[in-house]
Amino acid sequence: MTDQSATWQDEPTDYDEVGKLARSEPAPEPAAALGSLNITAAVADPELLDLPWHVALEDWPEEYLAALPRGISRHIVRFAKLGGSVIAVKETSEHVARHEYHMLRKLQRLDVPCVEPVAVIRDRHTPDGRPLDTALVTRHLKFSLPYRALFSQKLRRDTLTRLIDAQALLLVRLHLVGFYWGDVSLSNTLFRRDAGAFAAYLVDAETGELYPDLSTGQREYDLEIARVNIAGEMMDLLEGGLIDEVVDPVATSERIMDSYRNLWAELTEKESFELGERWRVAARIRRLNELGFDVEEYVIKTTPDGATIQLQPKVVDAGHHQRRLIRLTGIDAQENQARRLLNDMDTFRAENYAGQDEEISAHAWVSQVFEPIVKAIPRELSGKLEPAEVVHQVLEHRWYMSEQLERYIPLAETVQSYIDNVLRHRRDEAAIMLNPDTQMLKVIESEEARHRALEELD
Ligand SMILES: Nc1ncnc2c1ncn2[C@@H]1O[C@H](COP(=O)(O)OP(=O)(O)OP(=O)(O)O)[C@@H](O)[C@H]1O
Ligand SMILES: [Mg+2]
Repeated sequence: MTDQSATWQDEPTDYDEVGKLARSEPAPEPAAALGSLNITAAVADPELLDLPWHVALEDWPEEYLAALPRGISRHIVRFAKLGGSVIAVKETSEHVARHEYHMLRKLQRLDVPCVEPVAVIRDRHTPDGRPLDTALVTRHLKFSLPYRALFSQKLRRDTLTRLIDAQALLLVRLHLVGFYWGDVSLSNTLFRRDAGAFAAYLVDAETGELYPDLSTGQREYDLEIARVNIAGEMMDLLEGGLIDEVVDPVATSERIMDSYRNLWAELTEKESFELGERWRVAARIRRLNELGFDVEEYVIKTTPDGATIQLQPKVVDAGHHQRRLIRLTGIDAQENQARRLLNDMDTFRAENYAGQDEEISAHAWVSQVFEPIVKAIPRELSGKLEPAEVVHQVLEHRWYMSEQLERYIPLAETVQSYIDNVLRHRRDEAAIMLNPDTQMLKVIESEEARHRALEELD
């Protein structure tokens, strides 16, 4: 047992990497309850020791939980309070927990959207010495929505389409860094609202593996898994009456293939053109920027006769608009939110600061547009949506109002109308899974029944 633990903490693939795992510390007081508990964590989080690791997760007392003890997964998952934040705790085997922890750490370093790993807790025992499963701790992703939560009102078809497109983009980004997922599904993904679209985050890396590069076969296999899983998830929703009858589960699941393949081709494919059409180099790069990617490196070759050029992006990096927004304003938003805010900032500049430095107008935009909106949101409503999403929605709202009233609408009037007519009527999304509504519980129960039935079949 001791030997084994020494081996895995030195996991060779992680050994030389920055941020190498901290060695576990001997557990401090109260030693009696904790026993020989073994915690591996990236950042020292002493509050982790206050959680009842000597109790099976299923039986954790209410006082520790940040949520109704509900979830849909093979393993037991609970949300617990840790200092000022919320964590997700999953009980699983030691092998799986440590694999998933390392995988999430690597994905984070590669800058792929995924949940943040916090710790692995091993060698858990009840006070009378019965061994308990290893726990994997991740940080609860704020404002994230499991896809089922999006169905608590009937889901519109175009919302579904956006969900699938976000999932396709996530899969492309994972494949670009060489990650083979092995269990692509909507339920292994979390979604955050992103200016009318969604941003997808990987939540379950249990089956994932990292390679220097993925072969076409590996990528296609992952895509096939996605198609089959999503079709199954759609059928479940249809049976539960949570989805529009007009939605065809099979066609919808096939959309991920198209969406993925188009994006992959645009990002990686070789393009040939005549020497005279050199403008197409800039055009391709602009298209990639529009899709939210920067081209860090590309290869341009001319044919031996010098008549044609071949262009192939080699290193592409997601987050084109995100980076520009951060550079100009320090605001950390998601890609589509950033795109939307930058558009508004550009208009603002043309109207008020034409010909002046971008930095100057960006600064003015933050203090005259962004901040006043965020500050105007009453505290009790601030859990509804992320600040960048609120600002995006207020800007949309202004557009609709001026269309309707056929006049210029000052910002203050827009914000008031938005708060009264839109925001107040939304449910809180900072912690949607923490307080599932009845409709949601119904869905969860029916899915749990399905999981149980599947288990009985095994
Ligand atoms: N860090 C987190 N933030 C928000 N939600 C989370 C987090 N971790 C887990 N969850 C929720 O718990 C659910 C189950 O987690 P996960 O998929 O890792 O468990 P699992 O038992 O491996 O699932 P499966 O049934 O796919 O094997 C997720 O779908 C998600 O809704
Ligand atoms: Mg899962």
